[in-house]
Amino acid sequence: MADPKSYLFSLSFLLLLLLLHSPTVSFAQTLFVFGDGLYDAGNKQFVSSNRVDASFPPYGITVGEATGRWSDGRTVPDYLASFMGIPKIPPILRGTADFSHGANFAIADATVLGSPPETMTLSQQVTKFSENKNKWTAQARSEAIYLFYIGSDDYLNYAKNNPNPSDVQKQAFVDQVIAAIEAQLKVIYVSGGRKFAFHNLAPLGCLPAVKQANGNVQECVKLPSEMAALHNKKLLQLLVKLSRELSGFQYSFYDFFSSIQNRVIKSKTYTFETGVAACCGTGSVNGSGCATNNVCTKPEDYLFFDGKHLTQEGNLQVGHLMWGSDPEVIGPNNLRELLYLPLDISIVLADIQEAMAAMRPRQIKVESLYDVKKMELEMGNQWLHQVDKASSFLF
Ligand SMILES: *[C@@H]1O[C@H](CO)[C@@H](O)[C@H](O)[C@H]1NC(C)=O
Repeated sequence: MADPKSYLFSLSFLLLLLLLHSPTVSFAQTLFVFGDGLYDAGNKQFVSSNRVDASFPPYGITVGEATGRWSDGRTVPDYLASFMGIPKIPPILRGTADFSHGANFAIADATVLGSPPETMTLSQQVTKFSENKNKWTAQARSEAIYLFYIGSDDYLNYAKNNPNPSDVQKQAFVDQVIAAIEAQLKVIYVSGGRKFAFHNLAPLGCLPAVKQANGNVQECVKLPSEMAALHNKKLLQLLVKLSRELSGFQYSFYDFFSSIQNRVIKSKTYTFETGVAACCGTGSVNGSGCATNNVCTKPEDYLFFDGKHLTQEGNLQVGHLMWGSDPEVIGPNNLRELLYLPLDISIVLADIQEAMAAMRPRQIKVESLYDVKKMELEMGNQWLHQVDKASSFLF
């Protein structure tokens, strides 16, 4: 036992452990969550005058408790918090909760535009954040990750009310949504926020609820998916623009659109029995009316739990992709990188993708972001890079 070599070994092992753990000690790990039902951790039940389905079984069945989350179990923010080494982030409307690691402002039916009843728009969520911001130190607010999934209901409502928009009309609506998001990001930036993580929009026409309402469940519905794709492109352009305009603005852009598309089309490759029908609900693809008498026995075999939301297994896969994937899926930083990125460095997606392409020219792309180089040309501006400074950190 007293063998000096084994002593040395355990000492270096201890040092290694300390090294690996030191960032979690020195960083105030904070996560702020904004969005709709995909991220809601229970806010809806505090504003609704009606029964909130997610507060009752079969929601939460996999974890044995219905908490207001729109899934059979954990959500993407739950997994991200656990990867960050912090407890689940509580809903802001549960006033007595412990908000020391952040707050969740997301709520079912949230939109960017308009004033839908019994929910909070993005601007109302950000106002709540501003009202509460002194709960966190200025340092915690600038080191925190601000996570967003918002806009689905804007486009689903738009597609329902405008079945045949012209290209100009579609673009004008997307521009309105993006401008409203930009305004809110700037509010958070002024409050000290620097690390913004976006989960882009799903191909909305592939949601079981949308297919079923459309009457043709064989194919994804075109208009909602098209609106989501237009939005996603503009959103990435917005983030690139802000990273040039606002000093220290850092971001992550996760291509949820491709992740869902791949899982709907090639479900079995991703461990699901189906990415078409939901686990819970009635109708041809279980697209609506999830209740205890129509829930499947193995939610982990399904991508969708109900007509609009993912199963815990779907959320776990998404959480992993956001946390640790390469820039073909999430860029320019994944969340793990974004969290530890020093505040005075910004990293440019196009350069990272180029470096990767050079390293692996023939890689088969399972999931992919957009053609950022082309987008950059379209935007017609010079990049202001700091990649030299950043590259030693990344590679
Ligand atoms: C719909 O949900 C039921 C459970 O109520 C499940 O047994 C069935 O397989 C689902 N439908 C499809 C097409 O998967």
